Amino acid sequence: MDFTRFLSLLIVFCFFPASNATGQGRGFIGFVDPKDSGQVVVDKATSDTLKSSFTTIVLPIIYIIVFVVGLPANAMAIWVFLFRTQKKHPSAIYMGNLALADLLFVIWTPLKIAYHLNGNNWTYGEPLCKVLVSFFYGNMYCSILFITCLSVQRYWGVAHPLSQQRKNNKIAVGVCVAIWAFIWLTSTPLYLYDHTAKLKDPNITTCHDVNIIYDPLNPFPSVQLPYYYFIFMGLVVFLIPCIVIVVAYVLLLRALGNNMEESTAKKNRHRAVVLIITVLVTFLVCFIPSNIMLVLHYSMLKVGEVNNGYGFYIATLCLASLNSCLDPFIYYFVSEDFRSHVKNTLLCRSSRTVEQMRVSFSSLKYSKKSKSYVSDSANTQSSNC
Ligand SMILES: *[C@@H]1O[C@H](CO)[C@@H](O)[C@H](O)[C@H]1NC(C)=O
Ligand SMILES: *[C@@H]1O[C@H](CO)[C@@H](O)[C@H](O)[C@H]1NC(C)=O
Repeated sequence: MDFTRFLSLLIVFCFFPASNATGQGRGFIGFVDPKDSGQVVVDKATSDTLKSSFTTIVLPIIYIIVFVVGLPANAMAIWVFLFRTQKKHPSAIYMGNLALADLLFVIWTPLKIAYHLNGNNWTYGEPLCKVLVSFFYGNMYCSILFITCLSVQRYWGVAHPLSQQRKNNKIAVGVCVAIWAFIWLTSTPLYLYDHTAKLKDPNITTCHDVNIIYDPLNPFPSVQLPYYYFIFMGLVVFLIPCIVIVVAYVLLLRALGNNMEESTAKKNRHRAVVLIITVLVTFLVCFIPSNIMLVLHYSMLKVGEVNNGYGFYIATLCLASLNSCLDPFIYYFVSEDFRSHVKNTLLCRSSRTVEQMRVSFSSLKYSKKSKSYVSDSANTQSSNC
């Protein structure tokens, strides 16, 4: 008697939230207004979050950092790998493509910054929203794949130091072309459904922040495309590369451990460890949280469940964009050329301007001596850098 009552209580307890979920109270789901099909109605929690200072101040600040750091760093990386690297290695090819992927995302962040600063009001139309969203996720999965290639190549270069450079470069170029084609193809679902939603209250148009549910009783068809996209990408373009990277680094450390006597091997080992730590941080901050939350979020949308962690989900997506700022550290630890160019830019340029100021100052005082000063400073410049 008591047991059956307990059981029925348990059943009510378990099924009540599920039946309630088809109604109101779901995070960031919008329903088409029955009175006006052009407008979307959201619940109070959603409209509060869209008005909160987290989405209108904190998020744009992070995107501004991404833009200010990511744009010059990746542009410089592309320039170094294209024009300033004499002996092209497969790793330079992968990093050049990684920088290009980052740059293609970073150039769209000003739109995103303006959107959040404008109170999450997207005024640039559906096509630009689609471009922003697909470049965001395209960059994320491109970055994962290029980092995977770079990691495998690092291991390969240590394990087979005598393998042919030209052949390896050809393979690297082929792999990069294949990755770009694959990412462009798999982004198609993101172009096939509307990302903007015209909300009733607040009177704003959101971009990719509110999922429109056309039939509250049967939510799955409305979120089918992003669901399949993110589940597929999470398994094939996130989980498998993760496993490959871990295996590559374990093998790399073992290969480096075998010849510890030489001092060059010691240096290589140190570099490899620093690279591994950088990639690890990038994954821990950018890729692991966002991919887990994406899979969770769309799995919940599919069955029409409440996502109470919506703020957390948005935060992880924002953190994912930081990979454009973290990738330059990878270039720095892998590429000698990039390292020296960064040092030149950060250190020598300032000393050069100091030098030039001194030269122009002294040329005012001793106009006869100024020639020797200029040639002197030019000499020290090149030797110091
Ligand atoms: C909302 O904005 C539209 C223009 O996009 C305007 O026509 C409408 O009057 C506004 N509604 C309110 C309540 O401010
Ligand atoms: C959002 O932008 C639209 C179009 O420019 C405008 O009509 C609307 O009033 C804006 N909403 C807010 C809350 O500023």
